[in-house]
Amino acid sequence: MNKMNNIIEGKIIADTIGKELQLESTQFFQEMYVKPSLSVIILGEDPASLFYVRMIERTCQKVDFDFRKHTLPEVASEADLLHLLHQLNGDESVHGIIVQTPLPKHINEDRIRETVISSKDVDCFNPINMGKLAMGNPDFLPCTPNAVFEILKRENIEVEGKHVVVVGRSSVVGKPLALILLLKQPHANASVTVCHSRTKDIAALTRAGDIVVAAVGVARLIKGDMIKKGAVVIDVGTNEEGGKLVGDVDFEEVSPIASKITPVPGGVGPVTNMMLMKNTLQAAKKRLSY
Ligand SMILES: NC(=O)c1ccc[n+]([C@@H]2O[C@H](COP(=O)([O-])OP(=O)(O)OC[C@H]3O[C@@H](n4cnc5c(N)ncnc54)[C@H](OP(=O)(O)O)[C@@H]3O)[C@@H](O)[C@H]2O)c1
Repeated sequence: MNKMNNIIEGKIIADTIGKELQLESTQFFQEMYVKPSLSVIILGEDPASLFYVRMIERTCQKVDFDFRKHTLPEVASEADLLHLLHQLNGDESVHGIIVQTPLPKHINEDRIRETVISSKDVDCFNPINMGKLAMGNPDFLPCTPNAVFEILKRENIEVEGKHVVVVGRSSVVGKPLALILLLKQPHANASVTVCHSRTKDIAALTRAGDIVVAAVGVARLIKGDMIKKGAVVIDVGTNEEGGKLVGDVDFEEVSPIASKITPVPGGVGPVTNMMLMKNTLQAAKKRLSY
């Protein structure tokens, strides 16, 4: 059991952000008579995707946003999906669009990514938004890496000039997180090392990190002897192990060594959905030149 008070409570951070967003959106509604509106497209009935969409719906309810779910059958054609996307792109009352992945194999995901209009691309799905982030001039920040960034900010963890080691280079988490932490702006300006499955001696690199972020998808990969004393450890991983959700970090081993650590569940996850709400409100405000 962790006896130190070094656990970062993602749920509490998410609740605080939720209250702030609700206030902001109430004020927006009072002045513009518009609620931020998020549309989610889901193909088929994959239980994990359905669960995730339900979580988004609940988060929308918490912050009093409009939520619209568009369900297509798993066998829907790419043309059907593109048709729906074009409709939502052109619908003035829709501010944010998400296409739930993974998509069925007969759909070209790249084409779908490129079709979500960049001004409503609240999940940073479109390569234009990833490109803007890579150029250091982002419109939207992708939700999961932004959740990590937000946690570091809210916990007053100094990032500027620090060595952050990110384990994982996916285009959803690891790579965009590295780009965010490299931004020339307050709370960023880090020196970033990114590791992946071909990295030699990951432990030597993670031991050099002032902050270590694990986004791998391998249960308990990051062990106590891979972390330097006093480092901050952020665990993005969500893995099922014996019917339980566990992270990429061996919490029992690492928590006595880290100065701060996020648990799984209850760390990055709850904050991620709030970042989606933040982007949706931002998109709504921009659309109405608020
Ligand atoms: N909490 C949240 O809100 C949230 C959101 C999204 C994802 N997640 C979780 O975060 C984790 C990562 O997700 P993802 O989408 O980034 O996964 P992903 O696309 O599978 O990418 C995993 C990354 O980890 C690297 N990797 C795999 N095995 C490794 C090993 N043994 N040593 C070092 N690197 C290794 C891979 O390297 P290569 O590139 O060389 O293959 C890849 O870069 C998953 O557990 C996922 O469920 C959580």
